[in-house]
Amino acid sequence: MTGMTDVLAAFEAAKGFMPADEGMALHEAAQKAAADLALPLLEVGTYCGRSTILLADAARQAGTVVVTVDHHRGSEEQQPGWEYHDPSLVDPHTGLIDTVPHFRRTLHAAGLEDHVVAVVGRSPQVAALWTRPFSLVFIDGGHTDEHATADYEGWAPRVAEGGLLAIHDVFADPADGGQAPYRVYRRALESGAFVQEAATRSLQLLRRVTGSVVR
Ligand SMILES: C[S@@+](CC[C@H](N)C(=O)[O-])C[C@H]1O[C@@H](n2cnc3c(N)ncnc32)[C@H](O)[C@@H]1O
Repeated sequence: MTGMTDVLAAFEAAKGFMPADEGMALHEAAQKAAADLALPLLEVGTYCGRSTILLADAARQAGTVVVTVDHHRGSEEQQPGWEYHDPSLVDPHTGLIDTVPHFRRTLHAAGLEDHVVAVVGRSPQVAALWTRPFSLVFIDGGHTDEHATADYEGWAPRVAEGGLLAIHDVFADPADGGQAPYRVYRRALESGAFVQEAATRSLQLLRRVTGSVVR
């Protein structure tokens, strides 16, 4: 049985980009959404599984799963020569980033493999195949306008009525970070399909309005 201490230890040990305070807010929101709606959770942007651990633990508690999607080749800013490149993630056989082995080790260490369905693929291609609703959709994939917009258009309609849309790295001030997640966040609110639920620094939580159409 995995306890919260094990989950936190695995989270702290995992490579990744989710800070502890935002992670705890995501964990709490996921626990509540999964319990209330009894539906799976969805993550775009698995990377090495740091945030996946939190969603998997919430899924475990609610008797459901988290589906996590990533092509595992890294985002633009994680490629060689860019700010967030980690050379230890490069597969010597291909010369390309491959976060799959790291992700699998993370989940194994957390004891949460049974609560995760990992999809290796490009987010829009996976989204195009998916019609089932989720209690919570967490968008933390590519941070260009092209990718963030495709993630919103592909996955936000799959948030169940009353469910949550979580978006990471939302910065109102361009001095703090790229603006694509912020533009998607604004679009979600302006569509009328989502209302603000909570925020923890760059993590925004929006609730889907009953009877709404996502635009
Ligand atoms: C910021 S990282 C995710 C961080 C992770 N959630 C964590 O807590 O550490 C973004 C991830 O999105 C993936 N990604 C970027 N664009 C993608 C796309 N179009 N389809 C699938 N995955 C994508 C990258 O491979 C990368 O692993």
